[in-house]
Amino acid sequence: MRLILLGPPGVGKGTQAVRVAGRFGVPHVSTGDLLRAALASRTEIGLTAKKFMEAGELVPDSVVLDLIRGRLGEPDAAGGFILDGFPRNAAQAESLGVLLEEIGGAVEAVVALEASDEALIARLSGRFSCPACNRVYNVHSNPPRRSGVCDEDSSELLQRSDDAEDVVRNRLRVYREQTEPLIAYYDARGLLARVAGAGEVGEITLRIERAVEEVRDRGSDAAAP
Ligand code: AP5
Repeated sequence: MRLILLGPPGVGKGTQAVRVAGRFGVPHVSTGDLLRAALASRTEIGLTAKKFMEAGELVPDSVVLDLIRGRLGEPDAAGGFILDGFPRNAAQAESLGVLLEEIGGAVEAVVALEASDEALIARLSGRFSCPACNRVYNVHSNPPRRSGVCDEDSSELLQRSDDAEDVVRNRLRVYREQTEPLIAYYDARGLLARVAGAGEVGEITLRIERAVEEVRDRGSDAAAP
């Protein structure tokens, strides 16, 4: 399965990508996680990305494309992947198409998760994540068993600096201007399904799985003689 999860900050891409990746047996590939790991290791890529991420702006395409080319070339991605946070503009979408042609394969489905801005801002203000295993929590909807501590590895949970409200508002603006047009881009290619991102997490996973099946069925109907 080669699936893209599209959607605004806080809509639940990461939460759902982990679950859907488990169901399909493919890796979850998040450019945000890759960039945060590069930043934590103080690599050149991480240091270049820092100021863009802190401001809620997109990191330059060349940097992100290098990361994604490396990650999708790893053996565990040969059978497919769930992309979360990539592509994020038209140039990245075009580059992804070229890269997949080079390594063999194509995007099979794109799920656009949707929620209101009010819900997104409320979710991001309550998000905490584990710096060791990347597990994501929410003080309102999905708290850890022990306050401030990861259930998996007992690391101290952290709040992302780009979850400050002014940065969130800029991330939403950038999403509307640069990423949202990809919904029409993939719709025109017959790959898109829209899924409501509000509700219980497990129910949304089922909606995504059903949506992926619908896109696949549409593809096989179109291919039928
Ligand atoms: P990135 O890390 O990709 O952030 P994002 O797209 O803004 O998305 P988020 O991670 O904030 O949210 P999410 O949709 O994954 O929601 P989550 O599941 O955590 O990117 C960060 C930055 O990196 C960018 O701003 C940019 O600078 C740079 N970057 C990354 N990719 C790039 C690219 N391709 N090009 C250029 N720059 C790039 O859920 C949010 C919260 O809600 C959690 O607390 C969760 O527990 C909770 N929650 C989830 N589902 C529900 C539910 N159904 N009900 C209630 N609460 C829920």
